[in-house]
Amino acid sequence: MKILVVGNGAREDALSWRLAQSPSCEAIFAAPGNAGTASRGTNWDISPTDGRALAERALAEGIDLVVVGPEVSIASGVCDKLKDAGLRVFGPSRSSGRLESSKIFAKRFMERHGVPTARFTVVHSLETARKALDGWRDGVVVKADGLAAGKGVVVCDDADAAMAVLRDWYGPGKVPGGGSDVLLEKRLEGREVSVFALSDGRAMVPIAGACDYKRAGDGDTGPNTGGMGAFSPPIGFPDDMMDVVRERIVAPVLRGLLAEGETYVGVLYLGLMWTEDGPFVIEFNVRFGDPETQVMMPRVTGDFAALLASVADGAMDLSLATLSPQTCVGVVLATPDYPRSSKELAGLNADVALPDGAQAFWGNTAVSNGRVMAGGGRVLTVTGVGDDLASARKRAYESVKTIAAKIGTTELTYRTDIGT
Ligand code: AMP
Ligand code: GLY
Repeated sequence: MKILVVGNGAREDALSWRLAQSPSCEAIFAAPGNAGTASRGTNWDISPTDGRALAERALAEGIDLVVVGPEVSIASGVCDKLKDAGLRVFGPSRSSGRLESSKIFAKRFMERHGVPTARFTVVHSLETARKALDGWRDGVVVKADGLAAGKGVVVCDDADAAMAVLRDWYGPGKVPGGGSDVLLEKRLEGREVSVFALSDGRAMVPIAGACDYKRAGDGDTGPNTGGMGAFSPPIGFPDDMMDVVRERIVAPVLRGLLAEGETYVGVLYLGLMWTEDGPFVIEFNVRFGDPETQVMMPRVTGDFAALLASVADGAMDLSLATLSPQTCVGVVLATPDYPRSSKELAGLNADVALPDGAQAFWGNTAVSNGRVMAGGGRVLTVTGVGDDLASARKRAYESVKTIAAKIGTTELTYRTDIGT
């Protein structure tokens, strides 16, 4: 198969790395891709939201499978355009994508179909928020409705703290992502875990889990980010965790999708809080996670490309690929100002090859004259595999040191506590 990966993050680099090694992959392309995808295939200079241009080029090149990475592509209907053009696509429709692009849509969907999630209410103004928070005794999570690149959620200890956020959002600060709808949600206590379920439109099966580190600084301090590191599989959850997720979360989600006429094709990312009463959904993402993908791909064995093609065909065959029992730890190297702004870095060494068991994935970057230009933000994810968390972590951090010395800049920071 000739395979196109849409997107330009480390997630897409990890996907293209694993797809390129699949027996059924003949050639790999990325749009727009990054320094990593350029090293093993061909990058097309096409925006990940330009469905028409992607479809035209994919048809011209005889692409057999398109794997769509970013939420912005899905939310702008890229999968629909590619499918309408007759291409085989791994990724959901814009309509199904509302599970991520509108937090309010997702909450109401869960309410309609009995999916465990935190109690919530929707407000549209400071006045309605004040009424909703009157007598609220739990912690409050304040969430902007739309896609806000990780900036639209504030976890508050109480109603007063939530009101302070809302006074800003409905005042000088503006609601992140635009719009005026805001979700107020009961704060849940527990441990977070991300679970990934594959769906071919008829069946949905949770296949893997990972734990993600969202805060910028060591010890979970500093602002929320897209994710500063991860490990897979998750540790410290019940042995039957995947069965519980399948029964309590995936089953009602699938029933709901089918009842509402949604043929969900792709991966559904379940952001869960594991509470004393079991798992509750914090959020859905309609795509692979970043950096979770970077720690899952090194564990995949078999023909991953054939697996994703079977999902896209509506005939998911899970026997085509499996996950090794090994553990993978991934550490994100970012520009020091991340997530506040994104300073560019130029002239980085493109050679980030590492010994077996370790792998570096480029984030938002491009190659010019053999050197790498980084757009700022999350520049690299460095991963290590081992028989347990401690050995994977050791290998990942040794590799971080190797890479830091290799790429020729001291201007990258990372957390030192991933996997502890
Ligand atoms: P989200 O973008 O919805 O995943 O929210 C970002 C982060 O906020 C999550 O990863 C959680 O750490 C936290 N969060 C969101 N909703 C809740 C909730 N209901 N209870 C506790 N923490 C939450
Ligand atoms: N790691 C969180 C996300 O991909 O949204």
